[in-house]
Amino acid sequence: MKQKLKKLGIQLNKKIPIDEFLEKTLYEPNSGYYNNRMPFGNRGDFVTSPTISNLFSEIIGIWIISTWEKLEKPKIFNLIELGPGDGSLIKILFETFRKFPEFNKAVKIFLYEKSNLLRSIQKNKLKNKNIKWIESFSQIKKGPVIFIGNEFFDAIPIKQFSQKNRKISEKCYMVSNQGLKETYKKASPKDISWIRSFKALKKQNFIEYPKLGFIELDKIVKKISRHSGGILLIDYGYLIPFNENTLQAVMKNKKVKMNNLLNFIGKADITYLVNFKLLKEYFKKKNLKVENIVTQKFFLEKMGILKRAEILERNMDDQQKNNMFLILKRLLHKDLMGELFKVIFAFKSKKSNFLGFN
Ligand SMILES: C[S@@+](CC[C@H](N)C(=O)[O-])C[C@H]1O[C@@H](n2cnc3c(N)ncnc32)[C@H](O)[C@@H]1O
Repeated sequence: MKQKLKKLGIQLNKKIPIDEFLEKTLYEPNSGYYNNRMPFGNRGDFVTSPTISNLFSEIIGIWIISTWEKLEKPKIFNLIELGPGDGSLIKILFETFRKFPEFNKAVKIFLYEKSNLLRSIQKNKLKNKNIKWIESFSQIKKGPVIFIGNEFFDAIPIKQFSQKNRKISEKCYMVSNQGLKETYKKASPKDISWIRSFKALKKQNFIEYPKLGFIELDKIVKKISRHSGGILLIDYGYLIPFNENTLQAVMKNKKVKMNNLLNFIGKADITYLVNFKLLKEYFKKKNLKVENIVTQKFFLEKMGILKRAEILERNMDDQQKNNMFLILKRLLHKDLMGELFKVIFAFKSKKSNFLGFN
């Protein structure tokens, strides 16, 4: 265990803020979770909508094309996928876009990926495709920008705080020979002033603050403000803040107890539930407009997923139809991804009422 912690850069008997601990366990360039295994699929640790079904990705493709039309068909249109995972979404987007030649000519595709392992998996899957992997958004020079992130934001480590009588302390982990302990330290004045600046975090005695996520979004918002366009985020999350620790670890498609975390570091994915009320407030502060936040079910149904499934089913045998039923259930059922996942679109444009939200 000591060897593993050393590889991840985690020191014994030292308080480490939650986000720094997670950053090391998930993204350390050699031994971090996202750099040491293929996490996706039934044989991996978890499934995501694009890895469940091409149908989801096709519908996202249609939304992207409808957004381009709404923006009056710009001749150059930049699409940036944030955290493309195993490349499933972008692979289907490519096939969908080919059926729309005018759009296909305008779209320039960029992938933004932090994990070296996943980047090489994407490069392998998307060989000979006209795609650019970027490390900085300054590599995009002109034209509106549309950012898409499915389960991107919940994969960026968060900070956690407790608040008692207006005193805010930051939650940390400390690893010792006895195991992993939760502990607290004084919060920094900068973090306190950020937390206090958000209405969505008021009156909470347990606070989750996506500082690293907002640092990523700051770069994206800057790009959108300069070139116009927007960002579509789809994530597991909530609208009414509920004052609780939402961190969860998953391995082999099963939840792992957080108090057992030390046994699973580098082996389990650790995410949290996104606070969409906070996200909306953040975008508004940055002068972006926000469409209604809707559930994944609402969004996909408005975008015509049921009609599309009906068309596909015309050429299917009973077994394939049954599979389609199970896929739709997984994506749309209220107790599954349908209502647990939310969709937000924040944008800078004179247009509004983008498809899928009203
Ligand atoms: C939960 S996975 C989702 C993958 C994919 N979007 C899907 O739905 O199947 C999170 C993805 O975001 C990437 N990621 C996390 N933080 C990132 C960051 N700061 N910059 C770029 N990619 C990041 C991960 O490496 C991974 O590809």
